[in-house]
Amino acid sequence: MKVTVVGAGAVGASCAEYIAIKNFASEVVIVDIKEGFAEGKAMDLMQTASLNGFDTKIVGTTGDYTKTANSDIAVITSGIPRKPGMTREELIDINAGIVKMVSKSIIKHSPNVIIIVVSNPMDTMTYLAHQSTGLPKNRIIGMGGALDSARFQYRLAEALGCPSSDVEGMVIGGHSDKGMLPLTRLATRNSVPVSEFLSEEKLSEVLEATKIGGATLTGLLGTSAWYAPGAAVSALVQSIACDQKKMFTCSVMLDGEYGLKDICVGVPVILGKNGIEKIVEIKLNDAEKAKLVESAEGVRKTNALLV
Ligand code: LAC
Repeated sequence: MKVTVVGAGAVGASCAEYIAIKNFASEVVIVDIKEGFAEGKAMDLMQTASLNGFDTKIVGTTGDYTKTANSDIAVITSGIPRKPGMTREELIDINAGIVKMVSKSIIKHSPNVIIIVVSNPMDTMTYLAHQSTGLPKNRIIGMGGALDSARFQYRLAEALGCPSSDVEGMVIGGHSDKGMLPLTRLATRNSVPVSEFLSEEKLSEVLEATKIGGATLTGLLGTSAWYAPGAAVSALVQSIACDQKKMFTCSVMLDGEYGLKDICVGVPVILGKNGIEKIVEIKLNDAEKAKLVESAEGVRKTNALLV
């Protein structure tokens, strides 16, 4: 199992580290345009192999995509991150050109690849990856909902005063502060609806804190977060690589599911060896349906900025 990670910045390096440490991939290739940067990150990570007990080979390259040849999975993290106060949508001009070029370079050397898009604005970059590569829709996956759901679980656990591992919860919709839709109605603590433990008011605080999860970190860090994004990507990669068939929320091309068409937005999917094995259509109530449609309209507006 060979995995390419494009972008050796904090998110790309975290992805490579978490993938390596879980020891399911034979090789991880990190690509960056900055001379020597990916090589340096790869060497530094390789020097953790004996300490952390993994056998995954990590290779770095400055823009030589021949090194990525025959990758099973490729992760696109390249582009500029958010600065405090910026929205993800404001990154579109620079990141669209990069994502287009990178996705074409990946499929040139790995025609059977499954692509995971992390670059922001993520739903629109996932849509662009479809346009640029023409890959079947099961082979392009936007990472966003998996991260947002992990942040939702963190906020729920904080409010409940329990470990995150006791909590289940998913976030659907666009990966944007306004568009995220944490499904509080379906969230549980050890199978018990969280509404049994938390007041309406507390739940709405959890919901709001989840939606601005990325922006809160950007304010604290001065740039966008990397540990949770890297961990979310590695979980998606592992489900595909090990054919685990786990369910995650991901941004995927919809063709009528949830009443939406020709748009990539976060919905629950099963990930296995074929990438998206299935789009899961859960029953939403009228308010949730309306919010999902509104969120999709926001993503459509950003998609319209693509030239
Ligand atoms: C975040 C970026 C990765 O939410 O979009 O942290």
